[in-house]
Amino acid sequence: VDRRESLYIVSNYAAKFFANKMWNSEAGKTIGLSYFKERGFREDIIKKFELGFSPDDWNALLDAAVADGFKQEFLEETGLVIKNDLGRIYDRFRGRVMFPIHNFTGRIIGFGGRTLKTDKAVPKYVNSPESDIYHKSSVLYGLFQAKKAIRDFDNCYLVEGYADVLSVQQAGVENVVASSGTSLTVEQIRLIGRFTKSVTILYDGDAAGIKASLRGLDMILEEGLDVKIVLFPDGHDPDSYIQQLGADTFKTHVEKNKKDFIFFKTEILLKDAGKDPIKRAGVIREVVESIAKIPDAIKASVFLRECSNLLQMEERILISELNKMKLGKA
Ligand code: GTP
Ligand code: MN
Ligand code: MN
Ligand code: MN
Ligand code: MN
Repeated sequence: VDRRESLYIVSNYAAKFFANKMWNSEAGKTIGLSYFKERGFREDIIKKFELGFSPDDWNALLDAAVADGFKQEFLEETGLVIKNDLGRIYDRFRGRVMFPIHNFTGRIIGFGGRTLKTDKAVPKYVNSPESDIYHKSSVLYGLFQAKKAIRDFDNCYLVEGYADVLSVQQAGVENVVASSGTSLTVEQIRLIGRFTKSVTILYDGDAAGIKASLRGLDMILEEGLDVKIVLFPDGHDPDSYIQQLGADTFKTHVEKNKKDFIFFKTEILLKDAGKDPIKRAGVIREVVESIAKIPDAIKASVFLRECSNLLQMEERILISELNKMKLGKA
């Protein structure tokens, strides 16, 4: 077997190890499995995503893997074990609930591990480092489990976190993936684009995050995908919303609040600018800039017309702005 193949095999071994610990060890059952159940996750979802539990020991995985004949170097290369400067070797994931990360063909390439502690000093999630089989920027969590539904519904829901993927799937909406950890990359968008040209973003309802991501989301337009966005009430993410209010309320919320990204962006920026004419001019420029990124000219002109209403600005002025921008770009 080649080197990369060895990394896949050891990652798969680790996932089985973590799952076995969760379902069959005392600590796994009382700490790990019960954590997932208390968060409202059903057993079928826990199994579908191959969730697990890493024992709170320094060498649990390392010892088991070495005893089963795995070379330590492959454990190190996947980041499952860490060798520090003093040469000490220990498990990266300890006392965490484990989310295996699959590539879209279903092979396990990395892990996210969530702490069970509420201590703010402990990082909430620890993730596998980059390796020869795990390139964060081109992976979408849940894509393997979602890809058939994404094709069937010709749409992909995009959420922020692991738990959001699980809860949305559990609500019966299977076409959902997360960018998990990294902010959305162009590789991730292209990956979605292989399955559908339509993305609906379901982001956490914290205003700061939304504004920061506005610019990043222009990337999706640039790749020629349709983007809609749904916000959740402040303090909620799709997971907490579903777990608190149920699947039906969630689906209704999504349908009622789905907005074309361009309109969403226009509204947010306008609200921000208030009555200040200089700021409003800035908004117009920024919105036209977004529209200029849409490769399909017909689609762009439809957006331009509708934004001219929102912005209370004559369409021909927007068109001339757009043309100026395109010339500048060429
Ligand atoms: P839960 O509390 O389990 O519901 O997590 P969440 O997914 O709602 O977390 P949050 O909205 O804070 O963050 C979204 C995603 O960012 C998570 O799913 C992780 O992938 C990532 N993330 C959050 N906190 C950390 C962290 O401390 N370290 C790293 N590396 N990633 C994090
Ligand atoms: Mn590589
Ligand atoms: Mn958040
Ligand atoms: Mn959450
Ligand atoms: Mn969240």
